[in-house]
Amino acid sequence: MTASDLTSQPDVAAVRRAVVDRYAARARAVLESAGVAPSTAACCPPATPTESQPIEFVEALDRAVLAKSGGELHYGSANYDAANDLAGLPESVVGASAGCGNPLAIAELTAGERVLDLGSGGGIDCFLAAQQVGETGAVWGLDMTPEMIDLARHNAAKVGASNVRFRLGEIEDLPFSDASFDLVMSNCVINLSTDKPRVFAEAYRVLASGGRLRVSDMVWTAEPSEATRASLEQWAGCVAGAMLVDDYVAAIRAAGFEDVAAEYAPSDSGLVSASVFARRPV
Ligand SMILES: C[S@@+](CC[C@H](N)C(=O)[O-])C[C@H]1O[C@@H](n2cnc3c(N)ncnc32)[C@H](O)[C@@H]1O
Repeated sequence: MTASDLTSQPDVAAVRRAVVDRYAARARAVLESAGVAPSTAACCPPATPTESQPIEFVEALDRAVLAKSGGELHYGSANYDAANDLAGLPESVVGASAGCGNPLAIAELTAGERVLDLGSGGGIDCFLAAQQVGETGAVWGLDMTPEMIDLARHNAAKVGASNVRFRLGEIEDLPFSDASFDLVMSNCVINLSTDKPRVFAEAYRVLASGGRLRVSDMVWTAEPSEATRASLEQWAGCVAGAMLVDDYVAAIRAAGFEDVAAEYAPSDSGLVSASVFARRPV
């Protein structure tokens, strides 16, 4: 079945496959351009026709999908201050950046804090957080795509970040104990989940009392077409799975969070990148 055959919302397994395939291809392209063979490459059949393409092609695909926003979105590393945030980070970190915002800009991190990044990709936000929390703090990145974990670990070694760890896993079923973190952040990932209420419930569970949720994510301000909702390609490209912003805020509140807010600039397309704030009550 191809995306164009689908007439309703794709099923969970199909979405998972499309998302992992998309980001495995991206990670492999970055690792290949850095001259590194991903350790998981041998285990997996070719995922998509794009996986052996150079990184420029993979990025162009993502840009094409996000262009549906009317060109009002910033993509990947364009969300950061090049002179301050990105200086000193290797190309395999900056080039892998696939976010739709900059959650560090709203994280209010202090030294010694414990941070979890949901869907950490190549690790850009983890490395920026690690600089802010310092050696007395700790940062964990979680991602369900094995090739992204390979890339992030390669990047951690390159950056020399001793207070960052990456773990394979799903944001709907976090492999961490209750109350383990002061901040849970995420950049353009929760829209990809097929069970967003569970993601918010898990974020709540692993946050300590008073802990912060800070997210950059794609949301809709008006319901998109059924064809958009049905497209696997657009789901994997952070468009089809995005919730209506009011539903997104309501789902976070339903998980138990307080002080919930979503900030965004309106767009003609109705697809926006929001900065989302919430706190686990004390
Ligand atoms: C658009 S990329 C963003 C990566 C990173 N946050 C950044 O800003 O560069 C989405 C990432 O989320 C991961 N991901 C998507 N759904 C996930 C899930 N349900 N559980 C864990 N990781 C997931 C993908 O594997 C991919 O690495």
